[in-house]
Amino acid sequence: MNVGDVEKVLFSEEQIKNRVKELGDEINNFYGDTPVFIVSILKGSAPFTMDLIRCLKMDVKLDFIAASSYGVSTTSSGHLTITKDLTLDITGYNVIVIEDIVDSGFTLSKIKEMLQGRGAKSVKIASMLSKPSRRVVPVDIDFLGYEIPDEFVVGYGLDYGEKYRNLPYIGILSRKVY
Ligand code: PRP
Repeated sequence: MNVGDVEKVLFSEEQIKNRVKELGDEINNFYGDTPVFIVSILKGSAPFTMDLIRCLKMDVKLDFIAASSYGVSTTSSGHLTITKDLTLDITGYNVIVIEDIVDSGFTLSKIKEMLQGRGAKSVKIASMLSKPSRRVVPVDIDFLGYEIPDEFVVGYGLDYGEKYRNLPYIGILSRKVY
């Protein structure tokens, strides 16, 4: 990437580290010794997932799911395709779905519904970021890092054209880039 691709750092590496630790504490307090099943939605949530699970003290199972959606920007009746499904059975587990960002809410609402349909005991949501101004479908985010305005953000898993996921901070992408 070029110097200047990110015009403003919203959350530094240090801030993210501290916030993830706080979210881990919240989750530990909420579940106590009850085991949880982490469902990480690829690809953006990978860095957040890896940092968050290392803050958790209960027994944790981990699995990954990937989905792609269309018809989402203007309507809640779009279609979600699961491009990579879980490999483990979530029946009876307290599931925490992990996202990097909730935008329209479409992806999470569909995935939450699907996991509940598969017999999870409970399904809660942890997301690093949320853009409430973009919401089309209501979603309860149980463990949230930060609310952000409607800016194009990259880093800490978030991409633009598959770039910038490896940045250790979250920043606003310069208008020069897109
Ligand atoms: C992003 C993000 C969420 C979804 C949020 O994923 O990681 O999964 O979009 O949008 P929504 O609330 O409007 O549904 P993306 O499809 O860009 O895939 P990626 O994580 O692989 O980059």
